Amino acid sequence: MTGGAGFIGSAVVRSLIDESEANVVNVDKLTYAASLLSLPQTHPRHRLETTDICDGPELRRIFSQQQPSAVIHLAAESHVDRSIDGPGEFVKTNLVGTYTLLQEALQYWQQLSTDQKRNFRFLHISTDEVFGSLPEQGLFSEVSAYAPNSPYSATKAGSDHLVRAWKETYGLPTIVTNCSNNYGPYQFPEKLIPMMILRGLENRSLPVYGDGMNIRDWLYVEDHARALIQVLTQGAIGETYNVGSRNELTNKDVVGMVCDLLDKLSPSQSGPRRALIQFVTDRPGHDRRYAIDPSKIERELNWRPRESFESGLAATVQWYLQNRLWWEAILKRGYNPDRAGIGQPPTTSAATR
Ligand SMILES: NC(=O)c1ccc[n+]([C@@H]2O[C@H](COP(=O)([O-])OP(=O)(O)OC[C@H]3O[C@@H](n4cnc5c(N)ncnc54)[C@H](O)[C@@H]3O)[C@@H](O)[C@H]2O)c1
Repeated sequence: MTGGAGFIGSAVVRSLIDESEANVVNVDKLTYAASLLSLPQTHPRHRLETTDICDGPELRRIFSQQQPSAVIHLAAESHVDRSIDGPGEFVKTNLVGTYTLLQEALQYWQQLSTDQKRNFRFLHISTDEVFGSLPEQGLFSEVSAYAPNSPYSATKAGSDHLVRAWKETYGLPTIVTNCSNNYGPYQFPEKLIPMMILRGLENRSLPVYGDGMNIRDWLYVEDHARALIQVLTQGAIGETYNVGSRNELTNKDVVGMVCDLLDKLSPSQSGPRRALIQFVTDRPGHDRRYAIDPSKIERELNWRPRESFESGLAATVQWYLQNRLWWEAILKRGYNPDRAGIGQPPTTSAATR
């Protein structure tokens, strides 16, 4: 797999190690977004290869030495605000990196035996942001038209098309998933929910973009990891599956719920955290609404989320309260929590993704 030291990737690693017999080769460049503390420290079935997915010869060596039966491709630059300030890294990793990985996977796949070829899968993980913004009504489905609005979503859209083309043109057995906003333990603190938890804990202001009425559809990361393993083992070649758990909420409501959980689990002398919410200048091109229709993966693969948003958010807030060492290590290594993505001197940030 690629990107296994990131937020979703590490959830997939933990799930594969705990719930299967799979040997996991984790190809990750260890960018700012990675954390080794999210991974098993030493485990005989987990091996980290610190490699850039743009490095073809290194990928070739890993394919040849490790002989994988599948690739789960999660490595990406993933933060929309950063893509506004510096799109170049997004083009490199998300487009050139995916292209390089596809080429090496194809070369490897072509020399497998007929049986191994039939069983091989290349699973590409993408986002609902490739479909653009929704009006008040309607849902994204697997046949929604692509209309990406940010440099991040444009590079993800391009990578989805490359994956499709390597299946149609060369026969590589690929599958694509497009999921909604993930949340849960081990999420990097630049993202909305962990940022609000950490700022709320310190009774700092809670900056929310625009009027706070942008809608996102929230998916608990462990439900997502299970979905990916199910798609990998049971999904049909050449298909795409949308993954979401029907949790549409405005950013304002999400931040309000975080405040209430913090008040309950870690009460503040200064009073209710909702008073800390501040509305700040919106992100340029901020999509208004995303919402996923997950009925295909529910119907065809019988996948269901286990967490409601209430239970998942409570588990998440608890996790951040109980795992200070994990996020303090990230803050200590110099992560800059100032706001990115508005082309102005940094103030504070409040990104949903
Ligand atoms: N987080 C979400 O809500 C969300 C939603 C939809 C889709 N996705 C997609 O899921 C995937 C994983 O997202 P995430 O939130 O876990 O991201 P993340 O930013 O937490 O982790 C990305 C990982 O990829 C690695 N990486 C980055 N560039 C690399 C390169 N050139 N070579 C090798 N490794 C590299 C990083 O070191 C990091 O470990 C991404 O493809 C993202 O586009 C995420």
